[in-house]
Amino acid sequence: MAAITDPLTLRCGATLPNRLAKAAMTEGLADAEDRATGRHETLYRRWSEGGAGLLITGNVMVDRRYLERPGNVVIDGNGGENALRAWAKAGTAGGNHLWMQISHPGRQCSRTVTRQPLAPSPVQLDLIGLFGRPRAMTAEEIEDVIRRFAHVAAVARETGFTGVQVHGAHGYLLSQFLSPVTNQRDDEWGGPLENRARLLLACVRAVRKAVGDDFPVAVKLNSTDFQKGGFSLEDCVQVAGWLKEAGIDLLEISGGTYEQPKLLGHSGDAGTFAEPGRESTRRREAYFADYARTIQAGYGGRLMVTGGFRSRAAMDEALASGAIDVIGLGRPLCVEADAPDALLSARADRLPSWEDGLRLAGPGWLGPASPVKMLKALNVFGQMGWFYQQLIALSEGRDADRELSTGQALIRHFRTELGVARRRTFKDV
Ligand SMILES: Cc1cc2nc3c(=O)[nH]c(=O)nc-3n(C[C@H](O)[C@H](O)[C@H](O)COP(=O)(O)O)c2cc1C
Repeated sequence: MAAITDPLTLRCGATLPNRLAKAAMTEGLADAEDRATGRHETLYRRWSEGGAGLLITGNVMVDRRYLERPGNVVIDGNGGENALRAWAKAGTAGGNHLWMQISHPGRQCSRTVTRQPLAPSPVQLDLIGLFGRPRAMTAEEIEDVIRRFAHVAAVARETGFTGVQVHGAHGYLLSQFLSPVTNQRDDEWGGPLENRARLLLACVRAVRKAVGDDFPVAVKLNSTDFQKGGFSLEDCVQVAGWLKEAGIDLLEISGGTYEQPKLLGHSGDAGTFAEPGRESTRRREAYFADYARTIQAGYGGRLMVTGGFRSRAAMDEALASGAIDVIGLGRPLCVEADAPDALLSARADRLPSWEDGLRLAGPGWLGPASPVKMLKALNVFGQMGWFYQQLIALSEGRDADRELSTGQALIRHFRTELGVARRRTFKDV
């Protein structure tokens, strides 16, 4: 029975020093040319010294025209190799692995970045007007994306990152291709699951070819999109098996999209930003662990699960099940960079759930359970903004501001994002 302190050797031969991983969290810290900065170094040095055996970067974009968020690091001929080297050096100072998450946002690309995102089909993300109507990609554009994923992976290896993760979850481009709701194509990239999974698998194979057999290649995948007619658990089990055949080293399981933010433990109906999960489910940790057990049955490889893990007991239980090999941690590390060390050294047996107290202050109708869609959305943005602001504090060598209110975080977040968007030298708006 594995413990969180045990090392893990992967298919490619690499060994993670323990079973705790910092999950990918978008940093928003790039410079005006979309390159890494000294703030990435400071943040990742702190995390590297914080004990996790594996750090996965926030999503690094493959195309300057399409970002998940202004402030994303991009590898697209913008000349940031030296900054990437410095980032990789700082992020491995503690002897841990540092993997670069590689991503394309597809339709989840904000209007501050582009008026017209790309997507499998022109299905718009309807979220308080933040996203433009996407254009369906041409076959050439799809082939171009595959080349871009491979190129970024090669640069990651050259600049000192010790692995890569392909982002196939959370409603970003590869996840959009997987879902029949967002992928309505009738060519070889749409229709049956085999076709919808073609782009993800092509990216994984191209990445593997670019980095070689002795380098970790991982994928983050939704257990389900939690959307009627979307990517289902059954689909996930099948795709997981194909990914194993394609030779991945680690599959990370998450779930949900911008419309269904289950990755953060929120529940709700399609098309709305949802209330926080009911008390009973919120108290139940590790909301994807049960899905992971089902997925493992059809996968048979190394599995990481992220979402809601806070107590050592839940982590031990997940590892003891034999289905889960690595525990992913996100939000606790935005406040305490050394949270993994506290667990590994048994200084703590539980990490705080900061998210539980984050809501717009005032009467109930202003909070996450508001009947007004816009207010629900603002509560989720306020929560996310709170964690983004803490990452900025850590990256500048400060402590997290635990007293920051959700409302203040929301205002600072929008102000920061607009400032970063304005400063970018590359503009497509
Ligand atoms: C501030 C923040 C940024 C995130 N950015 C990413 C990202 O770039 N890529 C990704 O796959 N997931 C991202 N996520 C999701 C996390 O990786 C993780 O799945 C989620 O936070 C649930 O884990 P937790 O309950 O331990 O926080 C982000 C989450 C947060 C809070």
